[in-house]
Amino acid sequence: MKTRLLSINLLNELERPENADFLAEFTEHRHAGKSLIYSPGHDKNQVFVVKTGRLRLYLAVEDKDFSLAILEPGDIFVSHTRAHVQTIEEVTLLVMPISRLHSYMASYPALSTTVIRILGELLSRSFSIIDSLVFKDIRQRLTDFFLYEAENNGSRSQDGTVVRIDLTTTQLAAIIGSSRQTVSTIIGAMLKDGVLARWQRNVYLIPNVDLLRNYGNTRA
Ligand code: HEM
Repeated sequence: MKTRLLSINLLNELERPENADFLAEFTEHRHAGKSLIYSPGHDKNQVFVVKTGRLRLYLAVEDKDFSLAILEPGDIFVSHTRAHVQTIEEVTLLVMPISRLHSYMASYPALSTTVIRILGELLSRSFSIIDSLVFKDIRQRLTDFFLYEAENNGSRSQDGTVVRIDLTTTQLAAIIGSSRQTVSTIIGAMLKDGVLARWQRNVYLIPNVDLLRNYGNTRA
């Protein structure tokens, strides 16, 4: 189990004798490993607490999926989001209609702290996903720029294609619609990954144009 920032564990709270009425609201459900339990548009609005096992929350967009969080025993989640909820291994869930949750929110601090932690995790992961998508898009545009220069203004050398870019990083950033810092970071990564080499000031060597072309397509 993860080290919790706040030591309150919802499962332990539910198992206390004084919380028996709250626990009685839940129905126990078992699911096999690797089963999809909830998808967006699920018709019942349910809330569940993980009793045993782990689940993965993810967004599915076309043929890609983006992991949002791993739920572990003591975690809580709901069926009314755009995330898919899939079991990693066999799980036991404590399930109840979300309409019943509201009345308990005020009297069970463990509920709000757990919900805030899970939503925080989701938000943090969502920020990273946005970052990587934006970064990937800029990397593609920068790669396209170098490929265009190689094809139209490049000269062949025995080590590859040499391109002269008589632009400052700020000017280059303006051309591809990004910032100087981002362009520097991406060029730094391209140099490190060997798809680009610095030949002289403002002159780059592309050792293998096909490698550079593929670089633009790889995931951030
Ligand atoms: C009293 C209980 C709750 C009520 C009445 C409630 C209600 C709602 C409503 C009305 C929405 C907007 C839905 C829409 O735009 O279609 C929403 C969204 C959401 N809720 Fe809840 N909710 C409750 C508890 C929870 C809990 C316990 C969690 C997670 C631990 C949660 C996570 C979310 C998330 C992530 C969304 C965004 C969904 C998306 O846009 O994909 N909710 N909720």
